[in-house]
Amino acid sequence: MTAIDQYAVFGHPINHSKSPRIHGLFAEQTGQRLQYRAADVPAELFRSAVETFFADGGKGLNCTVPLKELAWQFADRLGDRALLAKAVNTLARQTDGRILGDNTDGVGLLNDLTINHRIPLRASRILVLGAGGATRGIVAPLLEQAPAQLVIANRTLEKAEAIADEFADLGELHACGYADLNSRFDVILNATSASLGGDLPPLADDILADGGCCYDLAYANQPTAFVNWGLRHGASLSLDGLGMLVEQAAEAFYLWRGVRPDTRPVIDLLNRERT
Ligand code: ATR
Repeated sequence: MTAIDQYAVFGHPINHSKSPRIHGLFAEQTGQRLQYRAADVPAELFRSAVETFFADGGKGLNCTVPLKELAWQFADRLGDRALLAKAVNTLARQTDGRILGDNTDGVGLLNDLTINHRIPLRASRILVLGAGGATRGIVAPLLEQAPAQLVIANRTLEKAEAIADEFADLGELHACGYADLNSRFDVILNATSASLGGDLPPLADDILADGGCCYDLAYANQPTAFVNWGLRHGASLSLDGLGMLVEQAAEAFYLWRGVRPDTRPVIDLLNRERT
């Protein structure tokens, strides 16, 4: 009998990760035989954990906070999406034994916004809150959608400016502080880490255009502070990042197994489980 293919997510902390559940559901749905586990791996132990995992025959890894900006070191080859994001959330052992580093966060967000929720991005005015790793991962795919405007607002202006400079070749991108935001947006994406702690960037009450949408890249069992902000400010949709989580996992699953799972029933099930 052949050994079961092994996959894992490494991160720190990791105990609330939904990834093992999601990949377990994908495997069941597609009839793929695999095991996927979560491992608490602090940054200082990351190298040895990755080396051991692949030396033991592991097929693929997801890397989450705080390891995404470190994981590229273990790739023999980086996909375009990882090069653009300067971060790797998926490592895949290829048939020749080499390790591919990729980033499925951006496509995960786009699929959830545009396919699952039919939120138009083309010609929309888009505001991204925050200028950390999460923002870096989504700027290039957002610019590819040809928005009317893409603005990054951050508490520390220099970090937003650095991202705007870095991605300037891909399209028009503006950086500003929260106090300088003086127009309205059709889509506001929260990519700060503030919302899970119940905190919010300071936003003017009239910043969301009529019928606009709010999306928090973070997710929790309860609505996040930003999802509640959107609901209070008349958003036609105010969502958290559970759908993005499932979609980025589906893209990783496809990279590893060559099979695309149906994400809809998995998102529905996880939504039911948290209410
Ligand atoms: P991640 O990889 O999740 O993006 P990060 O790189 O630490 O994490 O970035 C966190 C982002 O959340 C930053 O943009 C941070 O703002 P600063 O760059 O000014 O630090 C933002 N952030 C965190 N807490 C915040 C708060 N209470 N209000 C506003 N922004 C906050």
